[in-house]
Amino acid sequence: MPVALLSLTVSGMTFADNLPKFGIDPIEDVVAAMTLEEKVNLVVGTLRDYVYQPDPAPGMPQRVTGEVNDERGNTAYSTGKVAGAAGESYAVPRLGIPSAVFADGPAGLRIDPVREGIDRTYYCTAFPTGTTLSSTWNTALVEQVGTAIGDEAQHYGVDILLAPGVNIMRNPLCGRNFEYFSEDPLLAGKMAAAYIRGVQSTGVGATVKHFAANNQETMRNGIDVIISDRALRDIYLEPFRIAVTEAKPMAVMSAYNKVNGAIMPENKYLLTDILRNEWGFDGFVMTDWWAEGSGDVQTASGNDMLMPGTWRQYDEIMDAVKSGKLDEKLLDRNVANILRAFENTPVGMRRRYDENPDLKAHALIARKVATEGMVLLENRNNVLPLPQGARVSLFGNASYDTYVGGTGSGNVNRAYKINIDEGLSDVGQFRLDTVLQKRYQKYIADAKASMPEDNVWSISVVPELELSDDEIIRAADAGDVAILTISRMAGEGGDRTLDEGDWFLSSVERRNLERVADIFHSQEKPVVVLLNMGSIIDMTDWKDIPDAILHIWLPGQEAGSAVADVLMGTVSPSGRLPMTIARKYEDYSSAPNFPHSENPATVYYTEDVFVGYRHFDKNHIEPLYPFGYGLSYTDFTINESTDTVEVTNIGNRNGACTVMFFETTTDDTIEPLRKLKGFVKTKVLVPGETQTLAKPTCN
Ligand code: BGC
Repeated sequence: MPVALLSLTVSGMTFADNLPKFGIDPIEDVVAAMTLEEKVNLVVGTLRDYVYQPDPAPGMPQRVTGEVNDERGNTAYSTGKVAGAAGESYAVPRLGIPSAVFADGPAGLRIDPVREGIDRTYYCTAFPTGTTLSSTWNTALVEQVGTAIGDEAQHYGVDILLAPGVNIMRNPLCGRNFEYFSEDPLLAGKMAAAYIRGVQSTGVGATVKHFAANNQETMRNGIDVIISDRALRDIYLEPFRIAVTEAKPMAVMSAYNKVNGAIMPENKYLLTDILRNEWGFDGFVMTDWWAEGSGDVQTASGNDMLMPGTWRQYDEIMDAVKSGKLDEKLLDRNVANILRAFENTPVGMRRRYDENPDLKAHALIARKVATEGMVLLENRNNVLPLPQGARVSLFGNASYDTYVGGTGSGNVNRAYKINIDEGLSDVGQFRLDTVLQKRYQKYIADAKASMPEDNVWSISVVPELELSDDEIIRAADAGDVAILTISRMAGEGGDRTLDEGDWFLSSVERRNLERVADIFHSQEKPVVVLLNMGSIIDMTDWKDIPDAILHIWLPGQEAGSAVADVLMGTVSPSGRLPMTIARKYEDYSSAPNFPHSENPATVYYTEDVFVGYRHFDKNHIEPLYPFGYGLSYTDFTINESTDTVEVTNIGNRNGACTVMFFETTTDDTIEPLRKLKGFVKTKVLVPGETQTLAKPTCN
């Protein structure tokens, strides 16, 4: 029985009764003391009293505007303590159950940076997005990022972080690939586990999402993914399994889509039979925001919490319990799952928060991970690193307005971003062509003046500036090297397209690249291309034109500084591709069955387990750049023994090296020829230095 105390203070609330109290008494006793209303309130998020936007972003459900609709005259349950947080849970003050705050997301905490009437800001660090993290192949570093994001969440009063996203990059055009880790389940799972360990080391709960098979944004609110059990388990569930079993995330977010006919928040087979019973998941499952389905079926299926909550869901659960359609025991089970997890969150542990995270320290981590995730794809004649004092002609809009993250819930409200030109100027080792700089800056500012202001859902993409030959000739006369940045924006709610200006270069991009290369090369001056995007584009057509190509991804707020670190050679690139870059789009196994913009009700994963490099291997298709590819400024030798691998830096610059281990077979009729089974990364080795690493244990 609960311990009876005369006067008890929980989360600032004082009690003078002998009711069980959350955080003190056993969860079962607290659940037993809850009324039916309180239980239903707890499993349905609190944003249900808010009115919806009449005109949501394309592909998005109608979102809250923040205006309270007093339809049921009950507003006490929502504290609204962290402005811009994605959701909150219902508080039951009489039992000491506090309201927990949920906020995005993968590349940094997403909350509002300003609050009405308060004379201070609440900025967060914009870290590089998921693709950059996985390109580092450095789990210790990714854990550090998770720790920093968790730390910001804790400082700002957030209890549950809605990250990481681990969906497999089935197709390069998925609009949210930038948030995700890889085409390979092991790499994605290990990255997610490291990230979750970091977040949860701060006391904040992590949410692994979107469970499962949310590999396209087109029709995401209900597209039916038809997939074999084997492909589901070996490829699409595997990163979740690794994350859940290795890092014990506090929460899992079910996806919007259907899998084999059952909408994910109602998919008992995946949510209960596999996730909970087979893998032993002991946290709670929440829906993705305003997911389809009915509250009572979701509750019965093992979807513990419905976010951000609607009155419809509340009524559905309440009616189903009252009519006997839903066994109240299932509701109790879900309530207990939620409360058990909440006990370990900052609010559950009654931690105070001071709203002052160390943003300066986190910016250094953001810069480090951005440099370490960059992938050097070409470096003919070792044109990189650039010599000290080089006169740099910087081309491409994104050199002056660099994309640091994607749009949607993965967006972060950061205090600043360092564009590539600013980063190169700041390090004081290069001389930038200021004529070019002014030309681009003015062009971008003029264009933006007549475009809608950027917001979380959309960024105004300024058409690429087309330079005249005269302008390029002047720049070539004045510079030692041309750097040209090619960028793509992508985000939640839509997929990318196979068009010029998206998958392919636009005619202006193509022309600029060709003219810059012709003119600089005629003076024997090199051309470097920077790819500034969260995924990839077609490169076959143009990759031999420049001398060097560096994929900088969406590198977070320290973008320019990180680019400078790599171009100067302060850091040797050590990033490796987490996905395959094909010679042509049609070479991807999912190409015939990706929804594009056709809005089909169903998508068939007919390629089965042959996703990414597994398909290229099986069909002997040569990729343009294989999975795991990436150059360095130095060279390494690798010697393997049974248990260890010995890596020696045999070049003449510092550098780190990743070693990957694959399970192989020669019979490709059933099994993929290669499957990644583990990887290790050295520290930064000085020339001549050797490091011996234990081989990873395969799971
Ligand atoms: C996204 C989730 C996100 C949630 C809350 C949804 O639209 O799919 O990834 O966590 O919104 O912002």
